[in-house]
Amino acid sequence: MRQPATLALSLAEKLDFLPALASIVLAIFWAALTALGRSKAYPKTLALHIGYAAFRKATARLSVAQMQYALPTTNKTYDHFMRKRQLPRKTVNLGDGAQGHWIGDEKADNILIWYHGGGFALPANTGYFNFFTKLIAATASSNKSLAVFTLTYTLAPQATYPTQIRQAVSALRHVLDHAHHPPASILLGGDSAGGNLVGAVLSHLAHPHPLIAPVPLSAPLRGAIMIAPWTSMETDYSADPIDSRGDLITPAVAGPWSQAYLGGAPRDYYTDLSTAPADWYASFPVDRVLVCGGGCEILLPVIRDFVEKFRAGFSNVELCVGAGEGHVAPIYNLYIGDRDETAQGKRVVSWLREFCV
Ligand SMILES: *[C@@H]1O[C@H](CO)[C@@H](O)[C@H](O)[C@H]1NC(C)=O
Ligand SMILES: *[C@@H]1O[C@H](CO)[C@@H](O)[C@H](O)[C@H]1NC(C)=O
Repeated sequence: MRQPATLALSLAEKLDFLPALASIVLAIFWAALTALGRSKAYPKTLALHIGYAAFRKATARLSVAQMQYALPTTNKTYDHFMRKRQLPRKTVNLGDGAQGHWIGDEKADNILIWYHGGGFALPANTGYFNFFTKLIAATASSNKSLAVFTLTYTLAPQATYPTQIRQAVSALRHVLDHAHHPPASILLGGDSAGGNLVGAVLSHLAHPHPLIAPVPLSAPLRGAIMIAPWTSMETDYSADPIDSRGDLITPAVAGPWSQAYLGGAPRDYYTDLSTAPADWYASFPVDRVLVCGGGCEILLPVIRDFVEKFRAGFSNVELCVGAGEGHVAPIYNLYIGDRDETAQGKRVVSWLREFCV
């Protein structure tokens, strides 16, 4: 079944574009104006301060359809990035509306399959491809070869749960069956909603989802990386006061994004890994897991709670918290144009150097 690639804008959404744009421009001006005397709760650098303010406003103000209308698709951004860098492009049709894209040599000894974030509703931006090329270069400098295989999945709400998990699983199946890499050379990675997909794929490998073909593995996967995994579709953040000042998202996105993904389906352990019992994690076929989070991100309590539950069933989980960092900082900071290394990004690199074959 093919889903439409884009979502139709209603007349109201079209008419609303200009006022929305004006409010984002205003948020940028305001952030710039108040930058000098800002408190420590805001990001350290001026670029991040203004970039995060713009992102907070855009994601809170625009509808999913408006955001998708304004942003290029993942496959288009991949094409554009690879052309600009004069890197070889290779896209594989995975069926079911999904595409896989190679960055680096697909014959490399280690393959990192990456699922991008964006609440299941937004495409991957250039920050992702910058991040991938950095990981490949950093691993190469310790004499290990790494390639990234990343997925263009169908965005919500054009497709809903469990379509994105089925597409994420087909990326793994492609690397196993068509690119012929053994499980011990494969790593899964994802950020935010993509971290949710990493958890869902591991869940599927251990407890096959009734609507997705099982993937028999001859051995465990080498590892999994979850940056700021969004493992709870809970939309009520009112219990604790949330401070979004140091982050690039606000609690305003939780409702629309989880609604778009679930499409009315009940939540379960594949959508809300945070709610799984300890023994659910125990049989995950993976050697080790790295979870990262930012010290200033609104999801940090959810991430900490998730790691605690994960560890109760599966011992080899490391948590790295980057002090002062926002949501998915290793990727979004590159998108915004801030090239400073993040603590989370550094740990991902050193972890890959350590555990790749
Ligand atoms: C991206 O994917 C869509 C949907 O499959 C397709 O129509 C479009 O041509 C692709 N664009 C690029 C640049 O590959
Ligand atoms: C990588 O390999 C080169 C050439 O064999 C060697 O000179 C260098 O020291 C190695 N670097 C590391 C980090 O192992």
